[in-house]
Amino acid sequence: MLCLDNYFTGRRTNVADLEDLPNFELMRHDVTFPLYVEVDAIYNLACPASPIHYQKDPVQTTKTSVHGAINMLGLAKRTGARIFQASTSEVYGDPTVHPQTEAYWGNVNPIGLRSCYDEGKRCAETLFFDYWREHGVEIKVARIFNTYGPGMHPNDGRVVSNFVVQALQGKDISIYGGGMQTRSFCYVDDLIEGFVRLMESPPEITGPVNLGNPIEFTMTELAETVLELVDSPSELTFHPLPQDDPKQRKPDISYARETLGWEPKVQLREGLRPTIAYFRALVGAGFV
Ligand SMILES: NC(=O)c1ccc[n+]([C@@H]2O[C@H](COP(=O)([O-])OP(=O)(O)OC[C@H]3O[C@@H](n4cnc5c(N)ncnc54)[C@H](O)[C@@H]3O)[C@@H](O)[C@H]2O)c1
Repeated sequence: MLCLDNYFTGRRTNVADLEDLPNFELMRHDVTFPLYVEVDAIYNLACPASPIHYQKDPVQTTKTSVHGAINMLGLAKRTGARIFQASTSEVYGDPTVHPQTEAYWGNVNPIGLRSCYDEGKRCAETLFFDYWREHGVEIKVARIFNTYGPGMHPNDGRVVSNFVVQALQGKDISIYGGGMQTRSFCYVDDLIEGFVRLMESPPEITGPVNLGNPIEFTMTELAETVLELVDSPSELTFHPLPQDDPKQRKPDISYARETLGWEPKVQLREGLRPTIAYFRALVGAGFV
């Protein structure tokens, strides 16, 4: 098992529990450069996923998605490997259809602050399907919706990590917009089960397939649940919504249910407990 990372947002400690496995190898590599190794399956997850990180160097973000896809697809073509792509619900942009099915083409601003990520991921999907059509590469494209769990970066501005860290520190909880915009949150273990099922599915199942939790929560509901579980005295504060922030997003997972027999099992409260424990340890150790 070869694990590649350029450590832009990742850390060696994320895979510390794997490093002693006899067949595990960790390698510093940037996917925007070609790679010549022998493999029989590729999971391409390389790309900063939070706006704070992907907007830091937007040109590099597009390169990571587009050149990264070309390099990994080239590797899959040369070796005959099956290849998984971590695409995103951001390909739907600020959706005019709700909930989103895989047939929806999206409503994406091509020139906004989020475009480097959204359009990069859309172009990566195009490349995956062209390699499949032109070269017969066996592709598996998952459109991932908001995911959370232990191991998240504490300072990347995602809503779950923001709320939990602010609650643990007794700081006000920042809600962007009026608090009524919704998101659905998938626990990381459920998501990984979806990845594995998709990767093990028959070759004709290419995706794109939505993987996410269809149960919607408003930002206010999420904040209140976090405050209750942390037992925090923090107050809610409201701030203007950032540019192009989608107001509502929820996956239709009928296709994943039918083809993969997959659906999320972990309820929000259940998943928040280990997530809070993870952040509590980071805050306690002074890492946040
Ligand atoms: N977390 C979510 O809710 C979510 C939702 C939709 C899609 N995704 C996708 O899933 C994947 C993983 O997301 P995450 O939340 O773990 O993000 P993350 O930012 O925590 O992790 C991304 C990883 O990719 C690495 N990376 C970035 N650029 C690279 C490059 N050029 N070469 C090699 N490695 C590089 C980072 O160092 C890090 O280890 C991403 O492709 C993301 O777009 C995530």
